[in-house]
Amino acid sequence: MSTLVILGAQWGDEGKGKITDYLAKKADMVVRYQGGDNAGHTVEIGENKYKLHLIPSGIFYDDKTCVLGNGLVINPKSLIKEIKYLNDRGIDTKNLKISNRAHIIFPYHLKLDELEEQRKGENKIGTTIKGVGPCYRDKADRIGLRMCDIFHKEYFENKLRENINSKNEIITKIYCHEPLDADEIIKEYLGYLNQLKPYITDTNVLLNNSIQENENILFEGAQGTLLDIDFGTYPYLTSSHPISGGVSIGSGISPFNLHEALGVVKAYTTRVGRGPFPTELNNAVGDEIRERGREFGTTTGRSRRCGWLDIVMLKYSTQINGFTSLAVTKLDTLAGFDKLKICVGYELDGKVIDTFPASLETLAKCKPIYEEVDGWSVEDMNNIKEYEDLPAGAKNYVRKIEELTDVRVSIASIGPRRSETLIRQEFFKI
Ligand code: GDP
Ligand code: IMO
Ligand code: MG
Repeated sequence: MSTLVILGAQWGDEGKGKITDYLAKKADMVVRYQGGDNAGHTVEIGENKYKLHLIPSGIFYDDKTCVLGNGLVINPKSLIKEIKYLNDRGIDTKNLKISNRAHIIFPYHLKLDELEEQRKGENKIGTTIKGVGPCYRDKADRIGLRMCDIFHKEYFENKLRENINSKNEIITKIYCHEPLDADEIIKEYLGYLNQLKPYITDTNVLLNNSIQENENILFEGAQGTLLDIDFGTYPYLTSSHPISGGVSIGSGISPFNLHEALGVVKAYTTRVGRGPFPTELNNAVGDEIRERGREFGTTTGRSRRCGWLDIVMLKYSTQINGFTSLAVTKLDTLAGFDKLKICVGYELDGKVIDTFPASLETLAKCKPIYEEVDGWSVEDMNNIKEYEDLPAGAKNYVRKIEELTDVRVSIASIGPRRSETLIRQEFFKI
C-alpha cells in the first residue's frame, strides 16, 4: 500500500493534472481533497486535450475510483456539466464518488464572490468568481449545506430558503442588487442534486477500506502552496488548504497514512490574480515565457503573470509540505533562452534573507538575488524519450533545483502530453 499527494509547490497551474494522470496508472484511487471548480487541470492524451475543474485526473483510466473528498466545495451545476463533457468524449464516470460531507456551492456564493470583488475595486483578490471563498466562509460559519442534506428534502429546502433569504438581505441592502429567486434556485438545485445522488457516499469509509486492503491512493491537490489560506500570500490566495496537511482534513484518512508528497514545480513561476510576486518579469522576457508556455488560465482564460524560478519560495514550500520528491514541468518552455535566472535569496532592507516573509508589505519590498545558469536550445529538446537524453543545460537546471531545495527530482516534464514525461527515479511503484 502506498499513498502519495501530488500538489502545487507554487501559485497553482504547475501541471498537477498532467502528473496526476501519468501516475494514476499505478493507483487504485485518485482523490481531490480541497478547492472547487476554481481549479483547472489539463490532461493531454495523444491528440485529445481535456480540461478538468472538479473531477480527479484519474478519470481517464476506467478502473480507478475517483473521489471528491469532504474538503471540497462543489458547484453541482458545474459538476454535472463536467460529467457530461467527459461522457460526450467517451470517458466513463461510473467510478466517481462524492463525499456526503462536501459542501455545496449555490448561486448566492457566486453572486457574493462577484459583488465583493467589485466592491474591493483596486484591492480585489482577482478570484475566479466561482463562489469558492463565500462557500468556505459559510462552512466555517456553520450555515452551509452538504451533500448528505439532499437526502432530507424538507430540511434541505428549508435551510436553502433560509440561506437565500439571509443572503438576499446582503445582496439587496449592501450591494443594492436584485435579490435572487429562492423558488427558482431550490427547484433548479434539487434537480441537479437528484442527478448526483447515485455518486454521493461516505468517502472516508471508502478510503479507509482501501487503505485496509493495501491499495494505492493518489491525492490530487488543486491550487498551490502559496495559495494556501494559512501559508500562502494572505490575503491574495484561496480559502482552502492545498498543502499536504490538507489531505487528512479533506479526505478523512489519518495523517499517519500519508506516505509521500510530490511537489509539482513549474520550471519558472506563474501567478494568476493579484498580490506580490518577487521574481515577476514585467518585460519582454516575461512576455516570451507567457507566449512559449501558453500561460493563459484554464478556468478563466486570464493571462498568467510570469517570472523566474524562486528557490526561496520552493524551500518554504518544501518545508511545509515535506516533499519527498519533485516533478519539474515545462522544461521545454525554457528552451531557447541563452541564460536563465534562478532566485536564490531576497534582499530586504540591505540584508539577505532566505526565508519567505509572512507580511505582504515585507514581501513587496524583497528584491530577488539571482544566480545565472546556461540555457539549452529548442532543437536539443526534440525526440527525447529518456531523462538521460535531455540536453546538459536542462539536466544542470534540474540538478540545481535539487541542490538548492535538497529534494530529489523524480520526474521531468517536457510537454503537455502524457507521453512527454520522463521518469528519473522510480517511486510510487511506477
Ligand atoms: P494544473 O492546474 O497544475 O493542473 O495546471 P494547468 O493545467 O492549469 O496548467 C498547466 C498547463 O501546462 C496546461 O496547459 C498543461 O497542458 C501544460 N503542461 C503541463 N506540463 C507541461 C510541460 O511539461 N510542457 C508544456 N509545454 N506544457 C505543459
Ligand atoms: P489550479 O488547481 C491558479 C487563484 C485566483 C485568485 C485566488 C483566489 O488550476 O492550479 P478563488 O477563486 O480560489 O477564491 O481565487 O486564487 N486561484 C488559482 N490560481 N491556479 C488555480 O488552480 C487557482 N485557483 C484559484 O486566481 O488569485
Ligand atoms: Mg490550473
